[in-house]
Amino acid sequence: MALCMASCGSENAGQGGNTQPAATQAVSGKTIFGEKCVACHGNDGKAAIGGAVDLSTSTLDKAGAAAIIANGRKAMRAYKDELTPAEIDSLAEYLQTLKK
Ligand code: HEC
Repeated sequence: MALCMASCGSENAGQGGNTQPAATQAVSGKTIFGEKCVACHGNDGKAAIGGAVDLSTSTLDKAGAAAIIANGRKAMRAYKDELTPAEIDSLAEYLQTLKK
């Protein structure tokens, strides 16, 4: 599941056993996380590279996480200039799924 190089992305981006009725946006928080966040936080959010925190044990709720993503904190920069509010929202939602 970690390796999906040749066969993903072209179709059925919205499928994945997801039962939530949140089919409003095409952007997937998981996809953005893979592009922009894994370098420090790792695939599962636990890597904590360079002082990043383990996101699986984060106590932030969705709104709190969205605020950090938008405005940054310490070594983590702000993403509000490169991600849309909808993208930040779906990212924050995805982060909740990394928690135990
Ligand atoms: C350059 C490395 C780096 C990247 C890239 C990065 N982060 Fe971070 N992140 C950090 C660091 C460092 C902290 C801890 C900041 C602190 O100590 O206040 C952090 C903290 C966080 C927190 C706060 C968690 C908590 O419980 O306090 C969230 C949420 C978060 N990052 C999400 C993301 C998301 C989503 C992305 C991708 C858009 C991302 N980060 C990309 C380094 C990074």
